[in-house]
Amino acid sequence: MGYKVVVAGATGNVGREMLNILAEREFPVDEIAALASRRSLGTEVSFGDKTVKTKDLDTFDFTGWDIALFAVGSEATKTYAPKAAAAGCVVIDNSSLYRYDPQIPLIVPEVNADAIEGYKNKNIIANPNCSTAQMVVALKPLHDRARIKRVVVSTYQSVSGAGKEGIDELWDQTKGVYVPGQEVEPKKFTKQIAFNVIPHIDVFMEDGSTKEEWKMVAETKKILDPSIKLTATCVRVPVFVGHSESINIEFEDFLDEDEARDILREAPGIMVVDKREPGGYITPVECVGDYATFISRIRQDSTVENGLSLWCVSDNLRKGAALNAVQIAEVLGNRCLKKG
Ligand SMILES: NC(=O)c1ccc[n+]([C@@H]2O[C@H](COP(=O)([O-])OP(=O)(O)OC[C@H]3O[C@@H](n4cnc5c(N)ncnc54)[C@H](OP(=O)(O)O)[C@@H]3O)[C@@H](O)[C@H]2O)c1
Repeated sequence: MGYKVVVAGATGNVGREMLNILAEREFPVDEIAALASRRSLGTEVSFGDKTVKTKDLDTFDFTGWDIALFAVGSEATKTYAPKAAAAGCVVIDNSSLYRYDPQIPLIVPEVNADAIEGYKNKNIIANPNCSTAQMVVALKPLHDRARIKRVVVSTYQSVSGAGKEGIDELWDQTKGVYVPGQEVEPKKFTKQIAFNVIPHIDVFMEDGSTKEEWKMVAETKKILDPSIKLTATCVRVPVFVGHSESINIEFEDFLDEDEARDILREAPGIMVVDKREPGGYITPVECVGDYATFISRIRQDSTVENGLSLWCVSDNLRKGAALNAVQIAEVLGNRCLKKG
């Protein structure tokens, strides 16, 4: 016997990947429900070699369903996740709504799978921000070896992190640059994204940082270790899929770059591609559709006592969202629900 699984937001970028990944990883699904807004009622989405017609989230009855993977944004989550949870269906949510609630576990399975038991508090589990997820996968094995004191991270985040509208805006604006009269004004983003970079993701905070940057700080502390100091600069770049990060790490203990490379090679969820020659590193177009978090450019930072720098790339729709959510479902199934 397997699970009755709901994917809410099944017509979106993340929801579609959730359906793909459930099928690819042969998650034990007895029955699947694909939900979206009323606008998409009856839209067909793929689940393995089948197609499924989407139903309306607003009228769906969660009674008798085991797990609901949510990717509908915070507003809709606020309305529907509590309904699902109250009906006895465990929600794994991709929005930021519940991530900072101390009663709700925030999980990256390679880092803190043991937090899963906390799902019982509210029948809800939170999935982290895409930039945090790939970064903590890389930081965890290094932290275990040499204790991280401080991290300085700059992100290069793809437009798919801003949903379907983000992808459309980059596509249309790029074409519009070449066709006089078809120029596309910024709408989803605050400035032109085609052939440009924008140092602003999510709203501004009082201290001048952005909410995206704040999320990386708060989520790293919750998932990995509250004692780690972190400062982030989050930047949107004209890439369709795949987030990149330049990460500088200061440790308590000395960690040699060769040992760091060996540790990362052995670590779960990581693929090291690090040749010191032209092309001997990973770029975002090469990570699309993959499960791994790729690490390149591992090198000593001699400007601080125990420093390392590295380059980290991952598919934001996969490890940053859908894959991580399915991995959480796997942990939940294996350790807690025990069906299948
Ligand atoms: N993209 C990423 O890298 C990423 C990473 C981590 C987390 N997330 C989070 O995942 C969520 C989804 O992101 P996305 O990129 O997949 O967005 P998206 O491509 O814009 O898709 C949004 C999905 O939510 C559905 N939806 C929106 N409002 C709804 C409502 N009121 N009732 C029912 N369904 C509703 C949409 O249905 P319709 O098609 O019917 O409108 C669509 O299926 C967001 O919370 C986002 O913050 C995204």
